Amino acid sequence: MSNEKKLTTASGRPFVEKEDSLSVGRRGPLLLEDYVLHESMAHFNRERIPERVVHAKGSGAFGTFTVTNDITKYTRAKMFSEIGKKTDMLARFSTVGGEKGSADSDRDPRGFALKFYTEEGNWDLVGNNTPVFFIKDPKKFADFIHTQKRHPFTNMKSQTMRWDYWSLNPESLHQVLILMSDRGTPYGFRHMNGYGSHTFSLINDKDERFYVKFHFKTDQGIKNFTDEESVKMAGENPDFAQQDLLENIEKGDFPTWTLKIQVMPEEEAQNYKWNPFDLTKVWPHDDYPLIEVGKMELNKNADNYFAQIEQSAFAPAHIVDGIGYSPDKMLQGRLLSYPDAHRYRLGANYEQIPVNRCPYMVNNYQRDGFMRVDGNGGRSENYYPNSFDDINVDEKYKLKAPRITDAEAEWFDRNSADAGDNDHYTQPGNLYRIMSDEAKSNLVSNTVGSMSQIEGEKKDEIIMRQLCHWFRADSELGGRIASGLGVEINMEEFAR
Ligand code: HEM
Repeated sequence: MSNEKKLTTASGRPFVEKEDSLSVGRRGPLLLEDYVLHESMAHFNRERIPERVVHAKGSGAFGTFTVTNDITKYTRAKMFSEIGKKTDMLARFSTVGGEKGSADSDRDPRGFALKFYTEEGNWDLVGNNTPVFFIKDPKKFADFIHTQKRHPFTNMKSQTMRWDYWSLNPESLHQVLILMSDRGTPYGFRHMNGYGSHTFSLINDKDERFYVKFHFKTDQGIKNFTDEESVKMAGENPDFAQQDLLENIEKGDFPTWTLKIQVMPEEEAQNYKWNPFDLTKVWPHDDYPLIEVGKMELNKNADNYFAQIEQSAFAPAHIVDGIGYSPDKMLQGRLLSYPDAHRYRLGANYEQIPVNRCPYMVNNYQRDGFMRVDGNGGRSENYYPNSFDDINVDEKYKLKAPRITDAEAEWFDRNSADAGDNDHYTQPGNLYRIMSDEAKSNLVSNTVGSMSQIEGEKKDEIIMRQLCHWFRADSELGGRIASGLGVEINMEEFAR
């Protein structure tokens, strides 16, 4: 049989015996010499790579970002340089706490990770479907995530440890309130907003810095599962969100999101009533209105999930000229954590994997390491400076030095009353008060459903501690949750 594509071993040898192993006689044992068998079994044994330590279950697609409004007075980033400009991109959506095989509809925040392949490097915006987060300091992250994963003894998820942690960390209340609302169970990935969440910087061609929040508003409209629907869907189709995204893109019904930004001039950051670098707070739109920037459309499925989605690696550290960081402590911690996680999960040369590689330009003196597959710089010099190659530092990319206000190095309390950083209640209370009656009722019943699973000897202590937080946010909300849990509250005593 003549065939263009012959079946071969990994080393390229055409071979025939694909399904039967070499044996001594029909009924006898196998021979060691059948190395095609070894190769098949050995490669199979190495198919799994570590799943992401968080956000393990996810779906992704490629697309295009198109600028619709001029924001060049805020940023010189090439991607935003003119109306109509298009940039190729990749998005990966995910749940946070579940393993790679967990259900898409679980109550959890959703990851909203974006990679824009810009001419001046890949810009990654690694956000969530919520504008805030549970904690303010990266030192808390590992412990917090432990409470969202499995208990070391029971190997099961535990509402007790979740509420224990949240009640001991009231800074989480804003995010917990969003999580317990129906936004905690979005209807797939197409019907949710995405937020950069942190404060970032925009830098214009006059070297002026503006602080910025990124919001991606779904054009499909917000749609959520109720608690009951999400639990049912977890059983019926744990891959609901994957299927929904994949099939809509496959049939040409491309989901889109409108990028809007909130902009704060650098000098206002010191005196704004909320600490603008506190990830548990939003900037109310009345103070900093949304400004439209452009549209992101997802229009191409990955041809191979493992190659392009599982191996994708997003890092908040990856910014481009015209976009910068902020002193948000959580962002600062994440700058280190993600590339470190990628080196562990994918190896030191993870930036060479095609989905992660900048398609325009990568020139540096990094060499060698496991799985170096791009020619390793060939004959060119592997040190800087040198007299031979033509790689130069372009001074135009020099960053304006960020202004650091506190000169004293200290383990500052992130929730200090003196610094006004201890108000965990006003913003969640405000959010509750603007919810529709139905949204309020669902929030209450979802919370009661979850808190009623707290168990063990500390049950009452944990419930009372968390109830105090709900009451402080809004006394009606506290009262409704308490009554749902069958806890009688003496309001007079509480008021004291
Ligand atoms: C200090 C706080 C945080 C730390 C240390 C942290 C750490 C991590 C790590 C290690 C991963 C796995 C990366 C990988 O293996 O590829 C990850 C994934 C992720 N994190 Fe965080 N995280 C933090 C906070 C946040 C926040 C605040 C957000 C959103 C605003 C966020 C959004 C995401 C997303 C979307 C992913 C999945 C990215 C993907 O799709 O590949 N994380 N995080």
